[in-house]
Amino acid sequence: MTKQLTIALTKGRIEKDAVALLEKAGFDLSFMADKGRNLIFESPDKKFRFLLVKAPDVTTYVRHGVADLGVVGKDVLLEHPTGYLEMLDLNFGLCKFSVASTPAYRPNDHKRKRIATKYPTVARDFFNQKGEDVEIISIQGSVEIAPVIGLADAIVDIVETGNTLVANGLEVFEDICRISARLIVNKASLKNKPEVLDLIHKIETVVGDKEVPFQ
Ligand code: PRP
Repeated sequence: MTKQLTIALTKGRIEKDAVALLEKAGFDLSFMADKGRNLIFESPDKKFRFLLVKAPDVTTYVRHGVADLGVVGKDVLLEHPTGYLEMLDLNFGLCKFSVASTPAYRPNDHKRKRIATKYPTVARDFFNQKGEDVEIISIQGSVEIAPVIGLADAIVDIVETGNTLVANGLEVFEDICRISARLIVNKASLKNKPEVLDLIHKIETVVGDKEVPFQ
């Protein structure tokens, strides 16, 4: 008997791109078209169930095994790196992690820098790898104002179009890594449900293979 697969999708843009990718892979997801405020969807044939959740919670659902698979940005995986297997780069949701600040920032001076970020693990790992001791200041959003008002010397944040940086008088000083949406899987599901591997193979055939470089 076919086992039902539960897939946690990051609500918003990633969810829409993920649904489009699955449709391209031959799955009829028209039952998700009229979403309203629903957060859980079951396919009429009961083969799939989709959960629409916040990005960091995708890793939590997959880690606990209540979702077999998840679609979430690499930014979130770098902050929450354990308890799942990363299977595929889906090549959408493209952006990058960068260090940015006002033009007055001097990345090479010897002062101990304060770095504001929503991604403390990413920021700490990046500066550790450079052998640079920095103070990480965790904030929840609107990070771009931190260097402008003197909370921090620079920020580590996501850059997509770069418009938010420009609008706040900031510029990129260093790129850290490329970010894209990834398919993650629960380890036990991968072992015990053959449907998981079938689905991964089907998705793999329709994922664009173009590696988009840093802008
Ligand atoms: C992200 C990021 C930047 C912005 C970058 O924020 O933290 O602020 O998008 O996009 P851009 O380069 O296209 O301007 P998000 O929209 O997630 O909002 P938040 O800061 O409230 O978390």
